[in-house]
Amino acid sequence: MLSLYHAALLLLVVWLKPAACSVDQCGSLGAQLSIPNTTVNLSTYEANGTIIRLPGTVESCGGPDLVAHSTANLCRIVLVKATSTSSAVQIEAWLPDRDGWNGRLLATGNGGEGGCIDYATIQNGAGLGFASFGSNAGHNGSQGFDFFLNQPEVIQDFGHRAIHVEAEVAKEIIQQYYGSSVKKSYYAGCSTGGRQGFQNAHLYPEDFDGLLLGSPGVDWLRIVSSKGILARRIGWPDLESQSYVRPEQWKSIVDEQIRQLDPLDGVRDGIIDEPTKYRFDPETLACGTGVLNDSVCLSPQQVNSVRMAYEPIADSSGQIVYPAFELGSNTDVFSSNQKNGSAQLTYTILQDFWRGAVFNDSKWTPNNFSTADMDFALEVNPGGVNAWDSTDLSAFYERGGRIISYHGRNDETVTSALSERFYTTVQSKSNLSLNDIQSFYRLFFIPGMHHCAGGPGAWSIGNAQKYPFDSSRLDPQHNALMALVDWVESGSEPRTLVGTKYEDDDIGGNVVAQRTYCPYPSVSKWDGAGNITIASSWTCVAPSVCNS
Ligand SMILES: *[C@@H]1O[C@H](CO)[C@@H](O)[C@H](O)[C@H]1NC(C)=O
Ligand SMILES: *[C@@H]1O[C@H](CO)[C@@H](O)[C@H](O)[C@H]1NC(C)=O
Ligand SMILES: *[C@@H]1O[C@H](CO)[C@@H](O)[C@H](O)[C@H]1NC(C)=O
Ligand SMILES: *[C@@H]1O[C@H](CO)[C@@H](O)[C@H](O)[C@H]1NC(C)=O
Ligand SMILES: *[C@@H]1O[C@H](CO)[C@@H](O)[C@H](O)[C@H]1NC(C)=O
Ligand SMILES: *[C@@H]1O[C@H](CO)[C@@H](O)[C@H](O)[C@H]1NC(C)=O
Ligand SMILES: *[C@@H]1O[C@H](CO)[C@@H](O)[C@H](O)[C@H]1NC(C)=O
Ligand SMILES: *[C@@H]1O[C@H](CO)[C@@H](O)[C@H](O)[C@H]1NC(C)=O
Ligand SMILES: *[C@@H]1O[C@H](CO)[C@@H](O)[C@H](O)[C@H]1NC(C)=O
Ligand SMILES: *[C@@H]1O[C@H](CO)[C@@H](O)[C@H](O)[C@H]1NC(C)=O
Repeated sequence: MLSLYHAALLLLVVWLKPAACSVDQCGSLGAQLSIPNTTVNLSTYEANGTIIRLPGTVESCGGPDLVAHSTANLCRIVLVKATSTSSAVQIEAWLPDRDGWNGRLLATGNGGEGGCIDYATIQNGAGLGFASFGSNAGHNGSQGFDFFLNQPEVIQDFGHRAIHVEAEVAKEIIQQYYGSSVKKSYYAGCSTGGRQGFQNAHLYPEDFDGLLLGSPGVDWLRIVSSKGILARRIGWPDLESQSYVRPEQWKSIVDEQIRQLDPLDGVRDGIIDEPTKYRFDPETLACGTGVLNDSVCLSPQQVNSVRMAYEPIADSSGQIVYPAFELGSNTDVFSSNQKNGSAQLTYTILQDFWRGAVFNDSKWTPNNFSTADMDFALEVNPGGVNAWDSTDLSAFYERGGRIISYHGRNDETVTSALSERFYTTVQSKSNLSLNDIQSFYRLFFIPGMHHCAGGPGAWSIGNAQKYPFDSSRLDPQHNALMALVDWVESGSEPRTLVGTKYEDDDIGGNVVAQRTYCPYPSVSKWDGAGNITIASSWTCVAPSVCNS
């Protein structure tokens, strides 16, 4: 029997939450959800503004003190779906109340070697009314290798399966929670998340209507390999060798690249707009030229090392397989490679993934890394993680899917030339004209943007994995996710995007500069007259002829 107290409480709850999807419905949903091979761990109602504690989060994902912020009145569900008898994907679902739901789904991916739920993008999505989802890609943690060692099925989840499972489960949950099917499905991810998105479009073209893919790590195994290969080209791991270029020398080297190459785009702003157009001669930094002082200038052996560090990568047969490192970018990923005076790569994913997934050897180190180790990994291609074969996007194209991709020209992790190469390969593989490919897939380069976000450029375009969005710039011109929605649902293709540079990169704060960006192959050029900090001073022009 209901006591008076309980009745009053119930009344209060019903009165406070009159929306169709309520506290009660959320609570009972957990028990009622019926999805094969799935265990619901949690379903709680989180009012807008609630701080959600996530004590189960592992340290490399920011735990155990990590918190997320509810950005709408929503029902949060955490569930685990088995993907084989020895693997499972953990999924987060954030479901805005029915009257706040925009009828859409937003799924998210991961970064690096995966394992961390992308709460930033989920928060943005739920705040905009998307039913928003995330996954741990089948394992917990962005560092280490234990979760991959002898776990082929876990590697499959990371390689290609988790996002597909997330999409299927998300559509099921939406059906069961809202009692209606999703109107349009979107996905946003960066880096590994970009790779996951392209792979998904190739393998499971029906999952999403629109993909927002930043700095996509499509050639994942070669991207990771490149950190070891470049480190060895500059003398590592022998920190005493004549050819080793010391960490403290690199800032001067990069500064000199910017000094020499930045003015060539017509605007002296510390940003090399199109670094892939140029070559850099480190001879200018040799000791004796007087450019650098005695403590940082380059010996003849070091000149050679630096030159090699900016050469593209060839496989064992001598064929170029990966483009050169980005001129003007921070080099830490291959140059800050010592810890307490002993050789250790800053970029730990190489050691982790080759230990756990490629060689099955928990003692392996990249100290002797060679192109043979890269080629071997490609042959094994654990979990199908390398997405270079995903260049056939014809099924996604034919079903009417849309892709907006963006790539920083200051990307120290995934060289931006890879996106250009991927784009032209997709085009030629499906024999598409420029109009054809631009009718479903547009690539925007962002000069002065680091990997996924940050940097001296006007980089903020509603980037994936970056929370919060600027609530005053939620239009298709300034926010790439909104541009994608507009393209998918209204057919208006993104002709330009405007990026914003905020003071101290405080998104939504004071605007320092804005700039117009253009779909590849056209380039954003200063009009030669206007204030360079104003978007309208930049226009899209046809690419200039390569003058390297
Ligand atoms: C369920 O969620 C709680 C709270 O986040 C967590 O402590 C627990 O480890 C989870 N259990 C399982 C089996 O996932
Ligand atoms: C991942 O962590 C969650 C707690 O956040 C736990 O419930 C789940 O079992 C873990 N999954 C794996 C594969 O360890
Ligand atoms: C959540 O609360 C914030 C702060 O009050 C508000 O700006 C925002 O519009 C709310 N979001 C939704 C979806 O109601
Ligand atoms: C899912 O459950 C069914 C039985 O309900 C079982 O036959 C199947 O093997 C399970 N699949 C996975 C991936 O665990
Ligand atoms: C990995 O190595 C261990 C120990 O050497 C061995 O027991 C195991 O079968 C190997 N696993 C694979 C997938 O090769
Ligand atoms: C040499 O140049 C570097 C880079 O500009 C600077 O940090 C350092 O202080 C200089 N050293 C001397 C001895 O002038
Ligand atoms: C560096 O060495 C010192 C002294 O041996 C030790 O206390 C410290 O933990 C080491 N730091 C790292 C990052 O390994
Ligand atoms: C790396 O190569 C050197 C010389 O070829 C060899 O002496 C050393 O044992 C190798 N180290 C590892 C970890 O394989
Ligand atoms: C590629 O497209 C062009 C123009 O549409 C057409 O003439 C040509 O036959 C196509 N080639 C292939 C291999 O499909
Ligand atoms: C350009 O515009 C900014 C404001 O956006 C202003 O601070 C700056 O003074 C202007 N520069 C010139 C040369 O007019």
